[in-house]
This record gives sequence, C-alpha cells and structure tokens, in this order.
Amino acid sequence: MERNRNVPLKSRGARSKRLRQPEALPQHLVLLGAPGVGKGTQGELLSARLGACHLSTGDIFRAATTLNECDRTPAITRALEHMQRGELVPDEIVLGLLTERGNRLCCGAGFILDGFPRTVAQAEALQECLAQHQIPLDVVVSYELPLEKIVARLSGRRICPNCKAVYHLEMHPPKVKGMCDVCGAALYQREDDRPESVRVRMEVYEKSTAPLVEFYRRDDLLVSISAEGTPEEVFMRTMNAFKKRQTVAR
Ligand code: AP5
Repeated sequence: MERNRNVPLKSRGARSKRLRQPEALPQHLVLLGAPGVGKGTQGELLSARLGACHLSTGDIFRAATTLNECDRTPAITRALEHMQRGELVPDEIVLGLLTERGNRLCCGAGFILDGFPRTVAQAEALQECLAQHQIPLDVVVSYELPLEKIVARLSGRRICPNCKAVYHLEMHPPKVKGMCDVCGAALYQREDDRPESVRVRMEVYEKSTAPLVEFYRRDDLLVSISAEGTPEEVFMRTMNAFKKRQTVAR
C-alpha cells in the first residue's frame, strides 16, 4: 500500500530553524491527473519531502495480482478484471477498501492519496470519512500534460515486480536493460499500459475523474500544476505552489 521511499528526508539545520518561520506545508493531499501524468512519481518525491504516507489504490489492486487465485476474494477478482480492461474498479469495491483501511488516513505524518478519489461518489465518501476523523484536506493537486506526452510516458513505463520501482525506457532507463537498479528483478510492462487499455483509461478519466477538478475548485482546494519537464522540475513547481498558497493564506 505504501510505496518505497528511495529519497531520504532532508534534515534542516538548527540555525535555519531559529532564523526562519517554520513552513506550514500541507500534510493531507490528494493527487489528481490523467493516467501516466506522473502522480506516482510526484507522490514519491512529495512523501520524501513532507514525510506523509503515500497511499495508492492502484498499488493496492496490483499487489493483489500476486495472490494465488484461491486467496483472492470475489471482490478482488472483479476489481482485477476491470483494471486489466482499463476501466475503473466499481465504487462499491473501492469504498469497501476505504472502510477497511480508512484508519490509514489517521497516520500522524499525514497522507498523499494517489489515484483516490476517482469519482464524485468516492470524493463524497472521502469527505465523510475525513469529517468523522476530524482531519482536514489541505490541498488537491491536479497535474496537467498534453495527451501525446502522456501516451509517451505510459508506453515507455516499466515496473519492478519486486520493489515496485518505476522506470521509463527513454526518460528514466535502468542502468542494465530490463533489470531493476534497486533489486535486480526483471522489469515488466503493466497490462493496462498496452494501447487498447490506455485508450479506455483516457476515456474513463475524462468522463468520471476530470469532474473532480471542478468539485475541488469549488472548495478552494485545487492547485493546478503543469507536469511538463523532469520529475524534479515538476516537484519544485509543486512545492513553490504550496509556498505561494501558504503566503496568500497568511
Ligand atoms: P493507478 O495505478 O492509479 O493508475 P493511473 O491513475 O492510471 O496512473 P498511473 O499509475 O498509470 O500513472 P501515474 O500518473 O502514477 O504516472 P507515473 O508516475 O507512474 O490505477 C490503475 C487502475 O486501478 C485504474 O485504471 C483502475 O482500474 C484501478 N483503480 C485505482 N484506483 C481506483 C479508484 N479510486 N477507483 C476505481 N478504480 C481504481 O509515471 C508514468 C511514466 O512516466 C513512468 O514511466 C515515469 O517514470 C514517467 N515519468 C513520470 N514523471 C515524468 C516526468 N516529469 N518526465 C518524464 N517522465 C516521467
């Protein structure tokens, strides 16, 4: 459920703590954006910087693919069928997950939700769950990128089945072709990164998830960020937007 955190937390010296105002960076975040825009990559970088838990519903479902058939519940079997076709997993299954694992949202260090919510019904359920636990949602980041660049990111993505590290054939290749830099396992292509599933995922995103941009804009939680450039550039843009938002709020 939690992704690996390869990037160490940066320690800040005592001197800088004395002289500077402490940064009130967001602790409770949602990452929105089309499939392949780079939410998982940014989730990792943000988690390392903010110390918050990176929670990905896609990773939870993918972890279930390693279970033996007889260990899969009927709900998980259905979820995986939808996922392989590039469709959304039905809300009732995703909301069941929220009921089962909602206490993860109480993580003292905060949370970064990646891939959840994905429909208005899920966003409303999240609101309810957070209200019950009296946890505020601080910010919703919407990453944006032209379609042709998204398709290039998806078609070149390769994943490590073991430690879940993410690579890209051209933009972030492994040192040895086809092998994970971290643990040496053979990399694979996600089934839903094949062209026929990618097309379905894009359509589903436009229909079911894109309306969440307006949903969160209405609550003044939305920050739109261009996902162009390197992961580090996108990360810096995101951190600068958080700081700007904090200055405006003062
Ligand atoms: P999920 O795993 O959440 O997939 P997704 O939203 O489609 O997003 P991706 O993981 O494909 O992409 P990403 O935006 O994280 O990009 P990444 O950082 O990897 O969900 C999968 C499926 O599970 C769904 O289709 C659905 O079936 C189901 N599901 C999950 N949650 C659900 C929910 N709440 N409700 C219903 N169903 C649900 O980057 C992509 C590639 O680009 C990588 O190779 C990376 O190295 C590269 N890259 C990233 N950033 C950059 C950059 N700045 N420059 C160059 N390359 C980059």
